[in-house]
Amino acid sequence: MQEQLQALRAQFDTALRQAEDSTALEALRVGFLGKKGHVAGLMQHLREFSGEAKKEAGLLINRLKDDIAQALSLRAEALRQAELDKLIQSAGQYDTSRPPQAPAGSYHPITLTQRELERIFIGMGFAVEDYNEIVNEYQCFESLNIPKHHPARDMQDTYYLDNGQVLKTHTSAAQNAIMRKYGAPLRAIFPGRCFRNESIDACHENTFFQMEGIMIDRDISISNLIYFMKTMLSEVFRQDIKVRLRPGFFPFVEPGFELDINCLICGGEGCPTCKNSGWLELCPCGMIHPRVLEMGGIDTEEFTGFAFGLGLTRLAMMRYGIKDIRDLNAGNLKVLEQFPS
Ligand code: PHE
Repeated sequence: MQEQLQALRAQFDTALRQAEDSTALEALRVGFLGKKGHVAGLMQHLREFSGEAKKEAGLLINRLKDDIAQALSLRAEALRQAELDKLIQSAGQYDTSRPPQAPAGSYHPITLTQRELERIFIGMGFAVEDYNEIVNEYQCFESLNIPKHHPARDMQDTYYLDNGQVLKTHTSAAQNAIMRKYGAPLRAIFPGRCFRNESIDACHENTFFQMEGIMIDRDISISNLIYFMKTMLSEVFRQDIKVRLRPGFFPFVEPGFELDINCLICGGEGCPTCKNSGWLELCPCGMIHPRVLEMGGIDTEEFTGFAFGLGLTRLAMMRYGIKDIRDLNAGNLKVLEQFPS
């Protein structure tokens, strides 16, 4: 009997340790103390004893019964406390200052393209500059060798403000200030929003982005210009891009060029985006006119330089296959959130 009691006790202790919740405890109670439980089973054996031995065995069984009942109630209490602690703890785990979980935004395709270009040009030693959107006529025109009443002003249908200032028609408007700020030698790019009074269609908007670049140093020539343009384009498109250079007229460069790329929307066959020509004007450029350098305070005996005015909006359209420029300014999130960051 003694051994049976010990074995039962050991069995109970193990089961108790494993009981994780009140349901398991109840099952344990029924299994040991229930009418058909283990303890009741032991009682059956009492019949096999008599006299003093029977009395003693009865006492032992009862003691075991009491021990089990006590252990069960202690454990039940401990479990209840633990469950309560957990509840209190989880109730304290909220943050009244946490903002609601709004869906994450996405970057505009122009921003994505601009950042990619900045990364490439920074890698080639260029500084990135920012400049105003409202400038004066000197910055936008005169300092770029476009005097008042010069026909070249007609190329850019300009928004004039009442106070005589203008909305920047091109990023070149920052050339003078940046030359004055840094002097030579100088390598800088300056992306910016530009405004012209355009009639709007699939490839013209009154608001668009350019990225200007200038490099001024000793012995800078057209080959430097072509090298930087090619390196940049092949990095942006990660493929060989067909380009062509045509002569182009801009009063602030001499010689001046139009750099066109093969239209990537139609593959060169002609579509509304490229006005059916198969080519897109992407990057007017040229050697900075000596007069522009002089007005920027640069010694033209020692330094020469090139400048380019990359059509950032157009580049983003090519890069992402955006057929209509109006999609970029319409603020339509359904369209804009589709571009991978
Ligand atoms: N600023 C000129 C434009 O927007 C482009 C340009 C920039 C041309 C730099 C040559 C050099 O039309």
